[in-house]
Amino acid sequence: MSDPGVKKISIGLLGYGTVGSSVYSLINDQAVEIARTTGASINIKKILVRDISVPRQDAPQELFTDDYEDIVDDPEINTIVELIGGIVPAFDYISSALEKGKSVVTANKQLLSQKGVYLFQLAREKGTQIRFEASVAGAIPVIKVLRESMVAADLTSVYGIVNGTTNFILTEMSRTGAKYQDALANAQEWGYAESDPTEDISGKDAAAKMAILASIAFHTAVELDDVACIGIEGISSLDISYARSLDMSVKLLGVAKLYDDRINVRVYPALLKKDHPLASVSGAYNAVFLKGNSIDEIMLSGPGAGGIETASAVVGDIVSIVARDKPGVLEDISAWRELEFYPDDDVVSKFYLRLEVNDEPGVLATIAQIFGKYGVSVESVIQQGRGAHAELVMVFHPVKEASFRKALDQIAGLPEVKSQPRPIRVEGDGYDQ
Ligand SMILES: NC(=O)c1ccc[n+]([C@@H]2O[C@H](COP(=O)([O-])OP(=O)(O)OC[C@H]3O[C@@H](n4cnc5c(N)ncnc54)[C@H](OP(=O)(O)O)[C@@H]3O)[C@@H](O)[C@H]2O)c1
Repeated sequence: MSDPGVKKISIGLLGYGTVGSSVYSLINDQAVEIARTTGASINIKKILVRDISVPRQDAPQELFTDDYEDIVDDPEINTIVELIGGIVPAFDYISSALEKGKSVVTANKQLLSQKGVYLFQLAREKGTQIRFEASVAGAIPVIKVLRESMVAADLTSVYGIVNGTTNFILTEMSRTGAKYQDALANAQEWGYAESDPTEDISGKDAAAKMAILASIAFHTAVELDDVACIGIEGISSLDISYARSLDMSVKLLGVAKLYDDRINVRVYPALLKKDHPLASVSGAYNAVFLKGNSIDEIMLSGPGAGGIETASAVVGDIVSIVARDKPGVLEDISAWRELEFYPDDDVVSKFYLRLEVNDEPGVLATIAQIFGKYGVSVESVIQQGRGAHAELVMVFHPVKEASFRKALDQIAGLPEVKSQPRPIRVEGDGYDQ
């Protein structure tokens, strides 16, 4: 029996494709965590698809309908999650949901970049909300940061890599020297580009996202048609190779910038110095830089697409709607988990170690033997003479910290070791921490 103290939120899900089906799974898999955070139980009551005769994974068949009225006129359903995409019929569906005072969550960048202003106004008139975190940069919470955390940031520009497909293609061209057409074919083969990639490679997808970002960042209406865009079709492997010899990378950038009180929003390929943080954003990742007079610079980066990643942003929006006007989980200590602490000794880390030792035969072998006894394996070693002493610089494979420390205690006690060993952890090397 359901807990009578728990509020029940009924959702109408429109679309059960890549993102829609992931939202369904995520809401069910994370039900306990969502209820703990919001104090509400979220239930997907109905799902709209075109053809209900097709068997769908995970969700029971009786949830599916091909009749939108069946969802929007259901008085129990108070939140509509639109994951169909495109303008028709999504615009009509969202408009009618807002008209009826229902909250809306959408990932639809095309729609927002063309009809966003109308829909925001409608939501306001009807005293309800429209949230759209997943419409830009997938899992990265850039919209929430812009609309809530950056209100006093006095933003001057928002720019970055907001299209994963083109970033994947440019990264492949740079990594392998591939020609544009071959890198595109690889992206299609590996599922990073659609069979018709026009929206992505022409820069239009990025332009739609930049229109949304610019509107939220600068509180002014920017629509898709206001954003001039150049795609990556004209970038050749020669450009990529010359950029490399200039110590630069080629990236497709979206840039929204204030010039005094005027705004300029564009999408274009650009050369970036290799030490610029955006230059190292590779593959299908996205990253957005926020620049403002009160914040200097903030960069947000992460997966820009993908079913479950995008679904995570959609569910975050649902939680924001449900949790509105209530104290959050942070203020409600009774809703906190009581996690046990994981011991430092069991954490697996990589280490760098510089050891000052007597410059005599057999020292390295003695030290290596002790490390071996504790299961610590050496990844690389440099030995350098320093007069009467020698310096051993070692990097180790990932190892439990307790084992490493035990080996080190024993090594510190050797007469051949001349100074206290001081290991430093090596991070960001791709192993599971
Ligand atoms: N995929 C991503 O990684 C990603 C990332 C960020 C944002 N988004 C956005 O998320 C939205 C959904 O994308 P997706 O990749 O999940 O799309 P998708 O896989 O093509 O799924 C679309 C779903 O919508 C349903 N649908 C389409 N037209 C419909 C109509 N006229 N009436 C009723 N149902 C209809 C389809 O039903 P049938 O199954 O019956 O055909 C399907 O279940 C889009 O706005 C997209 O831009 C996607």
